[in-house]
Amino acid sequence: MRLRKIPGIEERLKAEYPHLVVAEPQAYAGIWREYFGTEAPLFLEIGMGRGRFIDGLRKKAPQTNFIAVEMRNEVIFDAAKKIGDDCKNVAFISGHAASLRDWFAEKEVDRIYLNFSDPWPKRAHRKRRLTHENFLKLYREILKEEGELFFRTDVAAFFEFTLTEMTNHGFALTEVSLDYHHSAYFDGISTEYEEKKSKEGSIYYGRFLLRK
Ligand SMILES: C[S@@+](CC[C@H](N)C(=O)[O-])C[C@H]1O[C@@H](n2cnc3c(N)ncnc32)[C@H](O)[C@@H]1O
Repeated sequence: MRLRKIPGIEERLKAEYPHLVVAEPQAYAGIWREYFGTEAPLFLEIGMGRGRFIDGLRKKAPQTNFIAVEMRNEVIFDAAKKIGDDCKNVAFISGHAASLRDWFAEKEVDRIYLNFSDPWPKRAHRKRRLTHENFLKLYREILKEEGELFFRTDVAAFFEFTLTEMTNHGFALTEVSLDYHHSAYFDGISTEYEEKKSKEGSIYYGRFLLRK
């Protein structure tokens, strides 16, 4: 993803979007429902990009709380503009997914969404893939019992890797499609990346349930 640099982006995010960008997410580990002020389910998107998915989902599910983790502030800035000021059920965390356990207590999250995560095609980089077993360990810890993970990609090899990692490390596959946009599972919300990629070929989709 091409990024334009925005001078003073960190300060601007804090100053302009304090209601969306959580300054100290570690302070809310275990008490996100207090942060939002409701007992609603908590859905987490990792690698949000420019926010179209979370914006679409929060409109479909206004009774749910959403947190999106993204490591690039420039992208968060675009997402914050999209969500706007009048939104009580969305929060952004600026940071790397490796820190998930600092921000969430055990069994705090109902669902995780991974949409078009970087595939890191070289074998030497496989530990960076967000479905590598090291990340799955973190997801297993923060997901509640019977929590779920939803995954989409346009890269067949990354999908195969994900299916193997997930089913070998504590998750059961409950839904799968090799052509998500033409399947009954498609939820009608496309991410920025997906809109482009779905015109070029198939989108792969998997839904996974945390095994007991
Ligand atoms: C290919 S883009 C997809 C963005 C968006 N989900 C979409 O579908 O349009 C991957 C995004 O994940 C973010 N990302 C990659 N690795 C991450 C990590 N370890 N922690 C947090 N964000 C990450 C990148 O900054 C980028 O915005």
